[in-house]
Amino acid sequence: MKVIKSGERETWSTKTAKGFEYPFAVKNIDCAVVEITGRHPLEGWYRNTKVDEMIFCKKGVGRIVFKDGSFDLKENDAVFIEKNKWYYWNSRTKGCFVAMCNPAWSSQQGQNKNKIELVYKKVTEKDKDQLFALIDTVLAGLENPQYFIPYEQWEYDSMFDEKNYAPLYGAYDGNKLVGMAQLYVSQKMLADFKKDFGLPAKTKVAELGGNLVLPEYRGLGITTKLQKIELNLAKKLGFDYLISMAHPENVGSCKTLERVGLKFVNEQKVANGFLRNLYMLKLK
Ligand SMILES: CC(C)(COP(=O)(O)OP(=O)(O)OC[C@H]1O[C@@H](n2cnc3c(N)ncnc32)[C@H](O)[C@@H]1OP(=O)(O)O)[C@@H](O)C(=O)NCCC(=O)NCCS
Repeated sequence: MKVIKSGERETWSTKTAKGFEYPFAVKNIDCAVVEITGRHPLEGWYRNTKVDEMIFCKKGVGRIVFKDGSFDLKENDAVFIEKNKWYYWNSRTKGCFVAMCNPAWSSQQGQNKNKIELVYKKVTEKDKDQLFALIDTVLAGLENPQYFIPYEQWEYDSMFDEKNYAPLYGAYDGNKLVGMAQLYVSQKMLADFKKDFGLPAKTKVAELGGNLVLPEYRGLGITTKLQKIELNLAKKLGFDYLISMAHPENVGSCKTLERVGLKFVNEQKVANGFLRNLYMLKLK
């Protein structure tokens, strides 16, 4: 058992918020009291990437804004915010809140959308180990195994062969590879898919695929950005069509394809037996 008296709390403050942390130093749970008087954080969206948070309004009121709506948290109301959900506070009046996290909150796992600086570039063999670790992590944690058509051994062996297989781009946070995307250019590999799309065999087609982003970096626009880079590359390389396929329930995947300008064709079981939404863009 451990008691922390109010005078022993650790405090922090910004222009619009004041926090009182209870340093119990236990791993499973923590507790803080936060007074909020305006927009918090001052700019951007905030999210926890590793902890779920429950917030109870002790006094006053606080407007909490999520991407899908906002509401006022009033005295004795409580809200549960699961990890990876973006939000910010936008209060006009002062509110006092008790926040509890499981596992215990840490600043390292918190993210502010505006403060993450990512670099987009080709992935080279120097980052081979990181690349395969990223693939393993994302594929092991897939929400639905049907979302990703497993790589064949020749594809693993050809990861850096951009002429006969696929140019490969990555998103980097510092030196850390956090997301990848490929532009499949092998006409042999795409032959059956051309039939699925109703395209003549001699049409020059490239496919957007290999979109894998670490869970804690999703929703930051990484895939959208990488696919735009690859769309421009496909144009530059003289392809007639850009195609892509995504499982109908893979919302993130379908959304990015539509956002970069590919048009929905239909939903069908494609040549390899996977159910897919087909997307296509005529480049010429
Ligand atoms: C699919 C995936 C690549 C998307 O990458 P990403 O970098 O997070 O994508 P973006 O941030 O560019 O865009 C995703 C959009 O979909 C939204 N989204 C993702 N999952 C969602 C869901 N379940 N419900 C509603 N929206 C969802 C995001 O919020 C974001 O939209 P927003 O910018 O309007 O908020 C990533 O989720 C992933 O790695 N998934 C596992 C592997 C996979 O399924 N790959 C696809 C097969 S090629």
